Amino acid sequence: MKEVNFLDLQFNPAELIGSEWLTITAGNKDTGCNSMTASWAHLGAIWGRKGGPGNIPTAVVYVRHSRYTHEFMEKEALFSISVLKPEFKKAHAILGNESGRDMDKYAATGLHPVYDYGTAFIAESKLALICRKLYTDEIKPECFIDQTLVGHNYADGDFHTLYIGEIIKTLAE
Ligand SMILES: Cc1cc2nc3c(=O)[nH]c(=O)nc-3n(C[C@H](O)[C@H](O)[C@H](O)COP(=O)(O)O)c2cc1C
Repeated sequence: MKEVNFLDLQFNPAELIGSEWLTITAGNKDTGCNSMTASWAHLGAIWGRKGGPGNIPTAVVYVRHSRYTHEFMEKEALFSISVLKPEFKKAHAILGNESGRDMDKYAATGLHPVYDYGTAFIAESKLALICRKLYTDEIKPECFIDQTLVGHNYADGDFHTLYIGEIIKTLAE
């Protein structure tokens, strides 16, 4: 992969996130890292900086408290979003259903974490977004306007933490 400008990418976000699926990775070479499948996310832009070029390209990801990845997301300043090459999509059977608490998911899938840019991403990807956390908050039941969503999505009380990350580097095939 080589570094490209995020704004030059051409893709349908609903298709990429909802059908191809994302792999969220957080960690660093000293502590190790963990990866999980995600299909709930947003890609876009929000906020700006004094003297900056304008809207900040950002990714929003939602990680439930129960995920091992949540521990890494809380500790780390950076995280990554990888989109696996199609021939590796079957790895999501493990990334999205097993926990890094119980197994080495990289050994089990044959995927390789690359430690770079202060975080880690998946080598077998066609796209990787390196993100720096800007904002985090909890999904709270009392904040739902449509309360029917709460019971359907959080019957077990396992709420998501949301992380808005600035896309500081984009790597693509
Ligand atoms: C298609 C798919 C999409 C998923 N999307 C999310 C998501 O957006 N947020 C989340 O917290 N878990 C999501 N999961 C579940 C986690 O990937 C799963 O619980 C994983 O085993 C957590 O691994 P970990 O404990 O190693 O972090 C998804 C699973 C699949 C199969």
